[in-house]
Amino acid sequence: MQLPEKHSATGTTIFTVMSALANKHNAINLSQGFPDFHIDSRLSGALGAATENGFNQYAPMTGLPELRNAIGAGIKDRYDVDVNPDTEITVTPGATYAIYTAFTAILSPGDEAIVLEPAYDSYIPNIEMNGATAVRISLSAPSFSVDWQQVKDAITTRTKAIIVNTPHNPTGAIWTKDDWTQLAEIVRDTDIIILSDEVYEQLVFDGAQHHSVLQNEELRARSFVLFSFGKVYNNTGWKMGYCIAPPALTQAFRRIHQFLCFTVNTPAQYALAQHLGNKTEPLNDIMQGKRDYFLKLLAETPFTIHAPARGSYFQVASYERISDLPDKEFAEWLTIEHGVATIPVSAFYSSGKDDRLIRFCFAKKEETLAAAVERLKGIR
Ligand SMILES: Cc1ncc(COP(=O)(O)O)c(C=O)c1O
Repeated sequence: MQLPEKHSATGTTIFTVMSALANKHNAINLSQGFPDFHIDSRLSGALGAATENGFNQYAPMTGLPELRNAIGAGIKDRYDVDVNPDTEITVTPGATYAIYTAFTAILSPGDEAIVLEPAYDSYIPNIEMNGATAVRISLSAPSFSVDWQQVKDAITTRTKAIIVNTPHNPTGAIWTKDDWTQLAEIVRDTDIIILSDEVYEQLVFDGAQHHSVLQNEELRARSFVLFSFGKVYNNTGWKMGYCIAPPALTQAFRRIHQFLCFTVNTPAQYALAQHLGNKTEPLNDIMQGKRDYFLKLLAETPFTIHAPARGSYFQVASYERISDLPDKEFAEWLTIEHGVATIPVSAFYSSGKDDRLIRFCFAKKEETLAAAVERLKGIR
């Protein structure tokens, strides 16, 4: 039987590979991006109550009105912009799904979509599954800021979309307001659509602010904005998120969504709708505390930090004082010999570009971070 290959990525994702290696060698897993602490008991309680109270059947295709209204209120609160919950917000089973759905809504065979690498690993396969071509632009260590001339040069008459991500996985870089202004200027006289992956919007440190594409009126009119509840409420396994886009793009998105999954887990929607109204400690503060704690401990190891993460829950580190192995081999060696699993940053480049960097996830309990660094201190 001959089955078509829908994209150029090969093998199992690095996240699965490193987590499996971590399990096999009993390593502390700082590789995959998920918290290892409990979620807010009000949220888990609300989930239980929703199922008990009979909210167990299909929700509306676009998402529960209560949840879409609460999302709209949250966006108003954080970014001071008005979003129409009926025509601009769609609840999705996570952001990965929303990215695929947005690409599928707009791409046709022969189109091009620009991706800034290192990049979250679903972007390029999603573009290729739609018969389009991913045009890669490499960002450079240590700042991983965008060279706007390079983006401008990459645009052709076939460019249909540009996908961007701030705060950035894996580098922890964040965009300034000026980055959005530059992007707006570049796409002004084109029909290019922006996919803005803002799943780490509430993880920005040192008093910096997350600038959302929603705050740039010109860009907002041509953007899908993708969010994940998993990254905000530490419940990545719930796979819940949402997409905000202007009415015409939302209509196109929903044309795909209604036949891809139709509707999203009802009790989880009720629980989130209720929890969005609860007062919670700012996530920025909690996660900055973890970043600072981790960096302080890491200073006692031979790893070098060229730029502290400004957002997200990832810290990139150089092992230049330890080894000159390629990063994949180094990450495997670190897992097997020292019992700490990380992700090699080359895994986020389709070319495998290797700056000899690894990514740590610090969204962990302090005891997990301390135990990991204790092991790293033993490296000679
Ligand atoms: C940049 C980025 N986008 C999207 C996602 C996926 O979010 P979700 O779990 O809601 O699908 C992740 C998760 O790691 C991510 O890092």
